[in-house]
Amino acid sequence: MVNNPTTKQARRLRALIAGTGSCVPDKILTNEDFTKIVETSDEWITTRTGIKTRHIAGDGETTATLSAEAARRALKQAGMAPEELELIIVGTVTPEMVFPSTACFVQDMIGACNAWAFDLSAACSGFVYGLSIAQQFLSSGRYRTALVIGAETLSRITNYKDRGSCILFGDGAGAAVLKASDSGSMGVMYSTSFSDGSRWEALKCQAYGSRNPVGVPLENPDLVYMDINGREVYQTAVRRIVELAKECLEKCDLQVEDIAMFIPHQMNARIIESVGKRLNFTDDRIFINIDKYGNTSAASIPIALDECLRSGKLKSGDIVLLIAFGGGLTWGANVIQL
Ligand code: UT7
Repeated sequence: MVNNPTTKQARRLRALIAGTGSCVPDKILTNEDFTKIVETSDEWITTRTGIKTRHIAGDGETTATLSAEAARRALKQAGMAPEELELIIVGTVTPEMVFPSTACFVQDMIGACNAWAFDLSAACSGFVYGLSIAQQFLSSGRYRTALVIGAETLSRITNYKDRGSCILFGDGAGAAVLKASDSGSMGVMYSTSFSDGSRWEALKCQAYGSRNPVGVPLENPDLVYMDINGREVYQTAVRRIVELAKECLEKCDLQVEDIAMFIPHQMNARIIESVGKRLNFTDDRIFINIDKYGNTSAASIPIALDECLRSGKLKSGDIVLLIAFGGGLTWGANVIQL
């Protein structure tokens, strides 16, 4: 075998989280506000979902503007200039437009002129998929820096006549700046990703793509909105998230007690609590902020990670477990030592 020092060095590289940032719109919709739009109550929403408020994009706020602000905050925390970025990945299902990609808009807005940029469509798993991809590029030595963003303006595809879904969703963006590092065990330790396209109908937004093109009248005007089979998603999500957590612990040779914080996709507080119980996580080691933001799809995990870090709940060396589940179906996880 050829003794190649570059390859040897590359094998030791880890994708380190150098900084995180998040951004949510100022405008807030409360449960009380929803009682004026659909037949619902604060009591139903709180007990069934754990949600109290969600942030909603206003005029001039888009997936790219929220992403760019989250990215600036992450870069500031990392002490890095935008020109140092080599790769930008934006996970979103509410892109700026059909094309160019939201990531290209972000590149331009923050001045990351040396990066290549692309979007990733994996619904709520967009950020964990993105971290997994960035990890491969950084640990191989191909790139030294990356920016991974999860961002959504779900309010723009929400059907505010459907009480079963409209109360769930909010807007926002979260970002992580990654740096290749060869210093020990810190960084992304393990990533795993799955999809099941046969279950696409559980979570979808059907217009306007190739199947339902612009200009052709829709058989049902509501196809422009996001549509969910909440019950089906609920049951599958619990099972898959538990499986992912077990896989991560086993592959990383960790016990539940070694995880300083479990940061699951903020889909429903009941789902998170049920998963936490099945895995024996104590309440202080499961992060929940769905009460403030609702479900922000790809943005939910990076917003939660940023809040966790900025509030001092985590310190250097701590291990965090990120797990997402969403439309596709898609699901995935990352284990990271901070
Ligand atoms: O991140 C991925 C996307 N997220 C999801 O897919 C969400 C996952 N699923 C969930 O979070 C839950 O399934 C929901 C919160 C969506 C629904 O909770 P549930 O406990 O599964 O309720 P359900 O759909 O079984 O509905 C129970 C009842 C129904 O009335 P009937 O048929 O029992 O008379 C609904 O019509 O609650 C009714 N309901 C509401 N009542 C008041 C549904 N939405 C509302 C509402 N307010 N907003």
